[in-house]
Amino acid sequence: MKKLFFVMMIVFFASMLAFASGQQGGGGGSGQPQIGVAIYKFDDTFMSYVRNAIQQNAQGKAGLTMVDSQNAQPTQNDQVDQFITRKLNAIAINPVDRTAAGAIIDKAKAGNVPVVFFNREPFAEDMRKWDKVYYVGAKAEESGTMQGEIVVDYWKANPGADKNGDGVLQYIMLKGEPGHQDAELRTEFSIKAVTAAGIKVQLLAEDTAMWDRPRAVEKMDAFWARFGDQIEVVFCNNDDMALGAIESLRKAGFFTGGRYLPVVGVDATAPALQALSEGTLLGTVLNDDVNQGKATFDISYALATGANVTGAGWPIIDGKYVWVPYQKVTRDNYRNFLR
Ligand code: GAL
Ligand code: CA
Repeated sequence: MKKLFFVMMIVFFASMLAFASGQQGGGGGSGQPQIGVAIYKFDDTFMSYVRNAIQQNAQGKAGLTMVDSQNAQPTQNDQVDQFITRKLNAIAINPVDRTAAGAIIDKAKAGNVPVVFFNREPFAEDMRKWDKVYYVGAKAEESGTMQGEIVVDYWKANPGADKNGDGVLQYIMLKGEPGHQDAELRTEFSIKAVTAAGIKVQLLAEDTAMWDRPRAVEKMDAFWARFGDQIEVVFCNNDDMALGAIESLRKAGFFTGGRYLPVVGVDATAPALQALSEGTLLGTVLNDDVNQGKATFDISYALATGANVTGAGWPIIDGKYVWVPYQKVTRDNYRNFLR
């Protein structure tokens, strides 16, 4: 009995400690640099992966204060103000609205707190405002191109994919948040890759589902009701929306009894890899959360400790950018990406 009580007390104190460090990052070891991290919203599948990667890299090296900006730029601005008032050694910001980066840089510069943006790319003119500003991300166009190439391969290998036999690929585009570089450029470059391969395309409809699965189900329900079997391919700017589209198409009788419709996404989330293994999702593109999180931490840490950023282990392009490559993921290689 006594022993059990003792064990319970240990578990209790250990979880209190874990809670304190999880909530406020609280300190880390004394003498460790303090880094503030703001995420546009915690409730985003891909960003939750990046968040974990940042946390893992910080372990034993820095104290992290990780906050949820709850998809509200005013909330994030307050959080940044607090980071600066507390004189944290560096901040890493995933902006809610990338046009707000300029104002964040002005404040950070005034308080002399170096800033690393990630995942949502500030405009170049804002990036030039100060030398202690960096960006870690991936080239959105690259992911679009890869998505398009996956569709091209499928189209060429499956003549039946042209359901109405008109030699034109009729498609639906489910977009992420308008204005986000990943939404705009994936939309553009996925289709460019298809036309570059000599395939004619016709856009049936395009709409935003804001990166969000339930919204994608709703949009796809409506598209199916309107276009039905005219739809030959569904492009989605991320996996959550691709999974939403698949869920909707399932209700319409697809993915059973030989009825198939190609749907592509981006991110290579765990549920997307599962869908690949089940033969529903045609393909996705790895958005490398592990390396984006590591680079974000490494650059922030170098800045926080006053070290030379070029020594942080990442090629720095144009003095300010770290680009993490994307990778194509299909049924042939998805096993290499399982989490
Ligand atoms: C994209 C990712 C989306 C979403 C978005 C948030 O890179 O593909 O799933 O997480 O970032 O900014
Ligand atoms: Ca056609």
